[in-house]
Amino acid sequence: MKRYHVTTFGCQMNAHDSERIKGMLEELGLGEAVSQEEADVLVFNTCTIREKPDQRFAAHLGNAKMLKLADPEKVIAVGGCYAEAQRERLFDLYPFVDVAFGPGTIPHLAQWLGAGGEAPRGRFGIADQRQFAGTLPMHRERRFQAWVQVSMGCNSVCSYCIVPSVRGREVSRRPGEILAEVTSLAGEGVREITLLGQNVNSYGRDLGSSFAELLRAVDAIDGIERIRFTSPHPKDFRRDVIAAMAECDAVCEHAHLPLQSGSTRVLKAMRRTYSRERYLRLVDDLRAGIPDLALTTDIIVGFPGETERDFEETLEVVEEVGYDGAFTFVYSPRQGTEAATSRDQVPGHVKKARIERLVDVVQRVALARNGERVGRVEEVLVEGPSRTDPSLLRGRTRRNTTVNFAGTSIPGALVDVRIEGATSTTLRGVELAAVAA
Ligand code: 5AD
Ligand code: SF4
Repeated sequence: MKRYHVTTFGCQMNAHDSERIKGMLEELGLGEAVSQEEADVLVFNTCTIREKPDQRFAAHLGNAKMLKLADPEKVIAVGGCYAEAQRERLFDLYPFVDVAFGPGTIPHLAQWLGAGGEAPRGRFGIADQRQFAGTLPMHRERRFQAWVQVSMGCNSVCSYCIVPSVRGREVSRRPGEILAEVTSLAGEGVREITLLGQNVNSYGRDLGSSFAELLRAVDAIDGIERIRFTSPHPKDFRRDVIAAMAECDAVCEHAHLPLQSGSTRVLKAMRRTYSRERYLRLVDDLRAGIPDLALTTDIIVGFPGETERDFEETLEVVEEVGYDGAFTFVYSPRQGTEAATSRDQVPGHVKKARIERLVDVVQRVALARNGERVGRVEEVLVEGPSRTDPSLLRGRTRRNTTVNFAGTSIPGALVDVRIEGATSTTLRGVELAAVAA
């Protein structure tokens, strides 16, 4: 039996695409290999959001090249966002790559590989070939949690971001298809689903429906105890979604609300279409509608033209909102995006100093937020053993914080955990009793 190995970079959408890639390869009769070395078909599902994932992928490909030199029968397939961004040059840059495909063209991978994994050389573009992978077989990585894609592509024009050009225009998936998939997942024992879209809350505009309606319909499906979604754009976070979050029992008390910058001037240059004040009003509305809401965010420092004062405004918003967590990034120019050609690039040492200051503030604020949980009892979905201490279990609260705790429950159980300690990214606790197994 031939064997495959998939290496995944990037976001949850890519991780989910990889589940489809694996499912498809298994349908072709391939088995999963434990390492790149042992695989006959090596797939790389790439990301190109910043320079760092590009570099990590290049390092992996260096290794793949050596493996192919040793065994020319090996097939090397490169998919995802980097493949799409480099579509003109990919085979010139890496002549040992056999097959390449963009995001959203996974359904075609089977055709190119052919039965048994024989690879013709070629690639497919996104514009005409994009499809939802919803009907493909899937190799799910987790038993009790699942990702469900609700849309693909993005119609925003954020001036730093490569995604719209690699993932194409936004298209929503039909509600009936989404609900059928969730129902079938519930039947397989899935208790938590995460609805995925590049701009998830603009879902449905092209179909005359809305994200709020979708949330309510998914909430009505028996067996799904937790609903999450990522990532929303603040500009499209409407009141009807806040109301749906508040009223639907299964929708978790967590919003990941990418800020990017706290300076209205920088937000404008980023083409985010909201101001600092409008973002803060949205946070107020969310908190008024959903008690005990956790808020997390994405922030970029060193966007072209960002002054010390602009950066301080970002720090002020972090303090004012009091985020439960934040992903922080140094601005990385992406070829083909508007901001990459700006002549006001911020010097590397300034970017570095700013990200260090930002991380300090984020950690202090998040530690204070997590500290407030100590003494409370939280509902935790058990995921498995703790990554740091195998004598403990690991799970997540509805607010999406990881908890390491002493307990006896099995993965998939929802248990009450008394919180006894906190770091800036995790909680520690003790299981009380299984609420439901
Ligand atoms: N440089 C740095 N960070 C970026 N992001 C997107 N594009 C860039 C870039 N060019 C960040 C944003 C986004 C997250 C997924 O990645 O914060 O929300
Ligand atoms: Fe990376 Fe963005 Fe593509 Fe996700 S959509 S894999 S973050 S470039």
